[in-house]
Amino acid sequence: IKLGVLGSGSGSNMQAILDAIEAGTLNAEIVLVLSDNPDAYILERAEKAGIPARVIDCAGYKTRFPDASQAAVAAELKAAGVEMVCLAGFMRLVKQAMLDVFPNKILNIHPSLLPAYPGLMAWKQAVEDGAKESGCTVHYVDAGMDTGPIILQARVPVFSDDTAETLHARIQEQEHQLYPKAINLALGRPA
Ligand code: GRF
Repeated sequence: IKLGVLGSGSGSNMQAILDAIEAGTLNAEIVLVLSDNPDAYILERAEKAGIPARVIDCAGYKTRFPDASQAAVAAELKAAGVEMVCLAGFMRLVKQAMLDVFPNKILNIHPSLLPAYPGLMAWKQAVEDGAKESGCTVHYVDAGMDTGPIILQARVPVFSDDTAETLHARIQEQEHQLYPKAINLALGRPA
């Protein structure tokens, strides 16, 4: 299966997907990586792995993902032969223009046990809320924010001396295991 990955940051989840492919636990290929952030390390990781990587044009908007950009991104992914789209630390909201082109074929990873703590900095929300447990979720993307059907979750404890950073690090370790497994499940394969 040909995967496209969209990310705005470090790309450690994309790396985990690549590592699973390399290890033979995920039978897939990442054919295109797109980022709305020209400085994102995910682009360098892609280049190092020999994967085509490009910057998304968001018409100068800092956080918005205008419909025209979404349509262009969807067309670019299609043209590259992408069959499933993985959002991996992508900070803009995907909407109908992309969902129409990839119905039930867009996955996202979120650093909480959804439906708890949707939105930004979920790990910080969990610490500030005094949660005893958090985790991560891979889910199908729908038109809401972090609301689509859940594919797989992993739990981590929250310790009383955790900071947002220490909790995020613990969650990320789990994310890297979770995403390749969730892709397998979404493809109807054993995790
Ligand atoms: C992850 O914690 C993911 O859950 C969230 O953004 C972070 C991305 O990290 N949506 P990376 O770019 O994959 O390293």
